[in-house]
Formats: sequence, C-alpha cells, structure tokens
Amino acid sequence: MLAGNWKMYKNPAETAAFFQAFAPVVADQEQAQIVICPPFVNIPEAVAAAKNTRIGIGGQDLFWLKEGAYTGEVSAPMLQAAGCQWVIVGHSERRQYFAETDETVLKKTQAALESALTPIVCVGEGLEDRESGATENVLRAQFAGGIAGLSREQFARITIAYEPIWAIGTGKTATPAMAAAAHGFLRSLVGGQFGEAAAADIRILYGGSVKPDNIKGLMAQPDIDGALVGGASLDPASFAAIVNY
Ligand code: PGA
Repeated sequence: MLAGNWKMYKNPAETAAFFQAFAPVVADQEQAQIVICPPFVNIPEAVAAAKNTRIGIGGQDLFWLKEGAYTGEVSAPMLQAAGCQWVIVGHSERRQYFAETDETVLKKTQAALESALTPIVCVGEGLEDRESGATENVLRAQFAGGIAGLSREQFARITIAYEPIWAIGTGKTATPAMAAAAHGFLRSLVGGQFGEAAAADIRILYGGSVKPDNIKGLMAQPDIDGALVGGASLDPASFAAIVNY
C-alpha cells in the first residue's frame, strides 16, 4: 500500500491537474493499493478524478462525533459521504500542533471504523526519544493508549503507519533496518494484545522522507507493508515512481 499525505498543499485546480498526470501512469499498477489524502476542500475533485481508477481517497483527520456544534471539524460520516474510504489518524503533526493525544486517537479510530472508513493510525518517536533509547517505550505507550483499546474485530480493520518524527520532511529516512526493527517491535505489541494471527495480518506502513530512490530498500523488508508519503506524493512523477517501484 502506497499512500500519499498531501498535508496542507494544493487547491482544487491543482488536485485535478495532479490526477490528470498521475492516474494514467499508475493505471497498470495492480499490486499496490494506492491512496491519496488531500486537504478536505479538495476531496470532491479527488474523488471525481479517481473514479474508475484503483486510487482510493482519504481524509487527513476527522472528529470523533458524527455532527454538532464543533466549528471547523469534519466527521467520519461526512468523509464517507464525500467518497473517502480512508482517513489518517494521529499524524505526528496533529499530535504536535493540534493537541492530539493517544486518547483522541483511539476515539477517532473508533469513529472512522463505525463509518466503514479504514483508519491509518500513525505512531512514531521524536529525535530525543530515538537518541535517548526511548523509542520502544514511546511506541509502547502510543500503542497502549491509542490502539490497544480497540476490540479484535476493530483492530482487524485498521492500518498502522510507523513514522519516526525525526524522519518526516527532513530528508533523513530511517534505514530499512531501523524501520524494520520498529515494525517488528510494533508487530510484537500487536501479537501480545490481539494474538499472533492479527500480528501477521496487520498492515504496517513506513513514513518519513520516502522518495523514489529509497522506496525499494524499505519495501524489501518483510515487516514493511507499504509507505505513507508526504512531500514526494505531491509531484505526480515522483509519487508514480514510488507506486511503481
Ligand atoms: P514526508 O512526510 O514524506 O514529507 O517526510 C511523511 C508524513 O508525514 O506522512
């Protein structure tokens, strides 16, 4: 699975232009699940442009209630009605700038599942955590607070993204071995909580400076099931090169 997180980039016209260039060059790609998560305002253009393609569309965030007086928020039923099948939950930028916590990650994940959206739940350690050897403690805490509260049935329907914060937008990718170690650790947490079958089945994406020139090495790791791509998903040629690696 190769998912593009556009963050706060592109307007509706730029979205339509992206799909015009991107869709034809990935049309023959039948092995990968391709997903694009544009800003909310571009979802109608993205859904229209992705019609009759294998590209799925997702939101970058959601609120956990269905509707109400929550100015600025968007709910899971709204995303679903707009044509989304996916939604990113708990991205580190949401945690860092918008007070997302493990508790809200769990609520949002459950809300997404109630609307039959597939949540892509993000976890990952910061630079200080990595340097002080706290990576596993951070991942364990994020898993315990944001994911372990799901039922087995709910867990079977999520995707996890491991995104070390120090690798996001910095050009510093985790080496395939570092990423694989973190994925293996996450898989062991899944095994402990939800059983070995769940650990084997869960799809874990890597994110953080994924580019056309490093995707192959990352994807060669058996524990890495795909990528969540930020900057390199904005350019049709570079995201196509990643999808068609
Ligand atoms: P990046 O972002 O590929 O620009 O590092 C990844 C992400 O934040 O999902």
